[in-house]
Amino acid sequence: MNTIKNLFNIQYPIIQGGMIWASGWKLASAVSNAGGLGLIGSGSMYPDVLKEHIQKCKEATNKPFGVNIPMLYPNLEEIIKIIIDEGVKIVFTSAGNPKTYTKYLKDHGITVVHVVSSLKFALKAQDAGVDAIVAEGFEAGGHNGRDETTTLALIPMVKEKINIPLIAAGGIAIGASMYAVMALGADGVQVGSRFVASNEASSHMDFKKMVVEAQEGATQLTLKELAPVRLLKNKFYEDVTALYAKGPSVEELKTLLGRARAKRGMFEGDLVEGELEIGQVSGLIHDIKPAAAIVNDMISEFYTTKNRMEKLSI
Ligand SMILES: Cc1cc2nc3c(=O)[nH]c(=O)nc-3n(C[C@H](O)[C@H](O)[C@H](O)COP(=O)(O)O)c2cc1C
Repeated sequence: MNTIKNLFNIQYPIIQGGMIWASGWKLASAVSNAGGLGLIGSGSMYPDVLKEHIQKCKEATNKPFGVNIPMLYPNLEEIIKIIIDEGVKIVFTSAGNPKTYTKYLKDHGITVVHVVSSLKFALKAQDAGVDAIVAEGFEAGGHNGRDETTTLALIPMVKEKINIPLIAAGGIAIGASMYAVMALGADGVQVGSRFVASNEASSHMDFKKMVVEAQEGATQLTLKELAPVRLLKNKFYEDVTALYAKGPSVEELKTLLGRARAKRGMFEGDLVEGELEIGQVSGLIHDIKPAAAIVNDMISEFYTTKNRMEKLSI
């Protein structure tokens, strides 16, 4: 029996990653209803907005779902109080120290998973007592580590050293990739970029279309001095690159980034001045479709690949 399916009581070991400005209750409940695990991305929500999303998600599905808490945003204590009061049973923390809240959340009966981008942090998360780890390679969309370790290298390195369930993330949008990371030792996958181009994602339609049009090489990890993030190369990205050419201070980078860039790009659809977070795998995303179709296609591709591999000899 698959440990990830057991841990969350779900049908398929596919987790839809929490994503600012993309994963509200509509996407999370659609993925959960399709047999995966949907996560509400609390990073772009004020506490009262999160509360509303959790309540709507509970109405839209009777399947398990969770909330992602990126620990770099404010209002953490308020967010955690809402999660506990609303009876959310699964939390994925990211971008922070897993020691801070893991015990507290677990004491409240919550299953806790932490997202890491390196072996060092995977070991820290295991020490902090998390139930599972998401190991995310440098291909992934959104914030990432500074070390640029790819999923192909990271998963077996983490698998070698940890003894709790392992979820692979970064560059996974098709069933063959899911098969590949499971061959490397992952128990399940977390998928982000592919779900941005879904009907239910709350991201702006123009951003979704840009993701579909993106080709190989369309993204770059940047802003390492602030919080490393993989972006589509639009005008805002070119402005960042031009500033880098001048050897900027952290303050100058912060000033250029300003406030609400991500909302402007991904939610309001300003493809020129906005920040557009997406993974390398956008080059493999060719359509916008329902979240359930994404889950079902990945599962059938997984089995097609498995059959192909059973006949393979080298
Ligand atoms: C638009 C976007 C927003 C994201 N926001 C978050 C976030 O708020 N919290 C988080 O832990 N990860 C975030 N991520 C990372 C995803 O949860 C997921 O781990 C990642 O997208 C997996 O790699 P992939 O994009 O190659 O599928 C984001 C990713 C994208 C594309």
